[in-house]
Amino acid sequence: MLSDLLDRNILWSDSRTAEDPGYFPRLAAQQTPEFFWIGCADSRVPANVVAGLDPGEVFVHRNVANVVHSSDLNLLSALEFAVEALKVREIIVCGHYGCGGVKAATEDLPHGLADHWLEPIRRLARSYAVDLAQCETDEARRDKLAELNVVEGVRRVSETPILQKAWKRGVKVRVHGLIYGLKDGRLRDLDCSIGPGHFQEKAAE
Ligand code: CO
Repeated sequence: MLSDLLDRNILWSDSRTAEDPGYFPRLAAQQTPEFFWIGCADSRVPANVVAGLDPGEVFVHRNVANVVHSSDLNLLSALEFAVEALKVREIIVCGHYGCGGVKAATEDLPHGLADHWLEPIRRLARSYAVDLAQCETDEARRDKLAELNVVEGVRRVSETPILQKAWKRGVKVRVHGLIYGLKDGRLRDLDCSIGPGHFQEKAAE
């Protein structure tokens, strides 16, 4: 019920103020987050909570299955603001095991608009069909695909003109890929981070 939600809000804001009277005035004056989080819209993966961060510490964009579409104006606007105005130093693409969006992308069923949204994941599944076939269960296959979707997201964010320009200017921002386990509440680093100099190193190889 909406009235329950509003009652909870009053309890929360009162207890925060009781703990720290300067809390809301400080946050209202300025946000200076170190992190920009691109995650799944799943209600079980709230960025602040799973990363143990307070309001004001992480700027957030979430969508179904944390897909990075290179033409998504919503994501690109948030990314540009995060890099140019907020000057975040760490960008995190975070997927999660047991993702319903990734599961939908592996099914041969119509899901309406979501099928258009999830197309990049279907494409990944086709590209990595041989690797995915080695997974022993459907669950393991979907979890591997969720990891691949994060790695792809890190690459796509890094290839945007926003990051390319920032790196050219010498900005030290880095892009990381994490995956969250619903079963144990742990974040794992997928070791696919990309930072300044990455593309020059690749070109030199
Ligand atoms: Co999900």
